[in-house]
Amino acid sequence: MIHARITGTGSYLPERILTNQELEQMVETSDLWIRERTGIEQRHIAAKDQLTSDLAEPAARRALAAAGKTPADVDLLIVATTTPDRIFPSTACLLQQKLGIHGSPAFDIQAVCTGFVYALSVADKFIQTGAAKCALVIGAETLSRIVNWNDRGTCVLFADGAGAVVLEASDTPGIISTHIHADGAYESLLTTVKPSAENDLNPAHLADGTAFIEMKGNEVFKIAVNTLGRIVDETLDAAGLTAADIDWLVPHQANIRIIQATARKLDLPMERVVVTVNTHGNTSAASVPLALDTAVRDGRIKRGDTILLEAFGGGFTWGSALIRY
Ligand code: ACO
Repeated sequence: MIHARITGTGSYLPERILTNQELEQMVETSDLWIRERTGIEQRHIAAKDQLTSDLAEPAARRALAAAGKTPADVDLLIVATTTPDRIFPSTACLLQQKLGIHGSPAFDIQAVCTGFVYALSVADKFIQTGAAKCALVIGAETLSRIVNWNDRGTCVLFADGAGAVVLEASDTPGIISTHIHADGAYESLLTTVKPSAENDLNPAHLADGTAFIEMKGNEVFKIAVNTLGRIVDETLDAAGLTAADIDWLVPHQANIRIIQATARKLDLPMERVVVTVNTHGNTSAASVPLALDTAVRDGRIKRGDTILLEAFGGGFTWGSALIRY
């Protein structure tokens, strides 16, 4: 049997840091409220001329370098993003061009904050079936472009960044299992303004603020906590493992309170949970690979560790991946 193994990780954060103190000058909020309710202290914001593919490129190159691969080795490229450079071509095609990759399949996946877990799940299937041998899987976002900077309920949360992994065919796992779900019945709780004659989803209009994130935060919070609890059980049951077998939880970085609730459910001390929400904010599809790369590069996550990735986002979508690193 062919397995998929993560052989390299990489990430990129734009230079500009937006602090809670700066947000205090923009909307009626406080550093204390943001830290207590979300755990966020600062976040990174893309420069005016930086598009999602511009953040994805350095993350991708760093992951390739870590795996000892070059762009020419990549035979599948998937970008998970909610904020594509354009409606088309896909951000994956635009990135492919920047990396100088020609001919292999490249496409985007849109599952909001669960996008990277979806993309990992799809790439895993390509590798298991022999359709790809070296996949580049990226989560990248410029969410700052679809944030309403007058809405204190959302503008303190979202941010920009990119994370990437190289997934290669291997005799040993690798990706042990992935689990992805969606339920569109919840579309209205976390959404952008719907396209209409006056208000479409052209990125040019997204950029000038005619379409932006709207969230019923409190309702999303409760459903996220319950759903993530369930997906964690589903994942462990499928592998015949218990929470004690998990070395690291790498959760979607939406809110420290949601992360703590999932850790409690797993009876996992916070020392074994990778937390980046404090410095990265919520980077949607980029948050899980950014957190993974952070913990790989600072030496916490080591080869052979068992890692549980999980995410929840607009749609609703939710998913998990159990990994032997
Ligand atoms: N500063 C100060 N006060 C604020 C702010 C702010 N930035 N934002 C909201 N408030 C106020 C509200 O107006 C409200 O005031 P009121 O009681 O006078 O009406 C009060 O704080 C409480 O508001 P809640 O929304 O109930 O606050 P809550 O504790 O739920 O925290 C938050 C809000 C942080 C948004 C939380 O609900 C959350 O994290 N939700 C889930 C986010 C998430 O996981 N999203 C999914 C993934 S993201 C994706 O898919 C794109």
